[in-house]
Amino acid sequence: MSEWTPSSWRSKAIQQQPSWPDEGALEDVLKRLSALPPLVFAGEARELQAQLAEAAAGRAFLLQAGDCAESFNDFNADKIRDKLKIILQMAVVLTYSSGVPVVKIGRIAGQFAKPRSSDTETRDGTELPSFRGHMVNDDDFTTVSRAPNPERLINAYHQSASTLNLLRAFAKGGFADLSQVHAWNQQFVTDSPQGQRYEEIADGIDRALRFMEAAGVISETHPQLHEVDFYTSHEGLLLGYEESLTRKDSLTGDWYDCSAHMVWIGERTRNLDGAHIEFFRGILNPIGCKIGPTATPQEVVDLCRTLNPDNIPGRLTLIVRMGAGNVRELLPPILRAVDEAGCSVLWTSDPMHGNTFTSESGKKTRHFDDVLDEVAGFFEAHAEVGTWPGGIHCELTGEDVTECLGGSEELLDHELHARYETVCDPRLNARQSLDMAFRVAELLQNNRPESS
Ligand code: PEP
Ligand code: CO
Repeated sequence: MSEWTPSSWRSKAIQQQPSWPDEGALEDVLKRLSALPPLVFAGEARELQAQLAEAAAGRAFLLQAGDCAESFNDFNADKIRDKLKIILQMAVVLTYSSGVPVVKIGRIAGQFAKPRSSDTETRDGTELPSFRGHMVNDDDFTTVSRAPNPERLINAYHQSASTLNLLRAFAKGGFADLSQVHAWNQQFVTDSPQGQRYEEIADGIDRALRFMEAAGVISETHPQLHEVDFYTSHEGLLLGYEESLTRKDSLTGDWYDCSAHMVWIGERTRNLDGAHIEFFRGILNPIGCKIGPTATPQEVVDLCRTLNPDNIPGRLTLIVRMGAGNVRELLPPILRAVDEAGCSVLWTSDPMHGNTFTSESGKKTRHFDDVLDEVAGFFEAHAEVGTWPGGIHCELTGEDVTECLGGSEELLDHELHARYETVCDPRLNARQSLDMAFRVAELLQNNRPESS
């Protein structure tokens, strides 16, 4: 294989990039970005990789979740806090019910660029460039809004930096203290059956904490009780941006993409001889790659060999998004091929992207039952092959939105418009997310490493 550099992707065919109106202006922005400080440190990415290796080995479970696309317009401390709250709640449910440690990664602090199935969108006879995420253009349907503007890359960097700053404060500054488990339950969730079920777990944790305190185990001396490790991730789609934030680690001399702890390759950009695979093979962060229904077993083995040639555990997470109707049939042969090839992979389920459809009322949505069914099918496929279903990857929000159908509140199509706030794909609301955590916890209980 030819020599890798942070810019070697530039000689390969690239997909899903915006048509920037002025390449010179883009290069100027990328130069400015490359002079700005890294957002994360290589040591943090290595720590995450070690935790993901535990999950790959069947000793931990990955919860990766957040918005489909973060927004420049809807950016404030409360929203960040609420997103962290729901992820912490889900992690508590999963850990408490299954006894398996949960690695927590947000789709946050950099999730601003979107691949699209079409370059343009037509409304009432007017054709404009598709919305590609706030890092590229605005979602309003006007010529000015839809024009790609590279200055948005700088804005994305700064919004990522302030989001990360707040997340670090929340994760280490007492907000994530286990004694706060009740405070993570928001009012609109507490009143629901899942919220009540969560309160029971929280009461159990309170009792356990009181017991441990009496036995001398207190949060002052045991940091695990009052802080969490929370990591960031996004789809590494705009390679110019990722290249600008790729820095040589002064300790090891290795290259890390310091835009996030983990970055992943989307379903539309995972072609083996393309620019994205070229860029990702050379960075030492833990990386992900989406695996959709068209992937063949041989293709997935080739991806593993190219992206993780030294077969390092925790380096490669394959995020399976087949659709509820496909996963039971298509996944087992892939699992078998990767297993037989001896490739170390952390397998996770993205039950969102293979289950999207447009409802009768014209909203892009997903049905909660399909989402749960895909996760169940993912667990069944692993049980059949004898591999470990190592995590879930979800689009969700801490808000009380109405974007996905069904769930215990039985949301119907005509109710979607009430609080349909996403700038891209439909997200689970906090109640649906908690419900999902309980269901996954049940699947995990039946699939404990000791019992498999
Ligand atoms: C996404 O994760 O938002 C996404 C676009 O996914 P995929 O690449 O799997 O379609
Ligand atoms: Co999405």
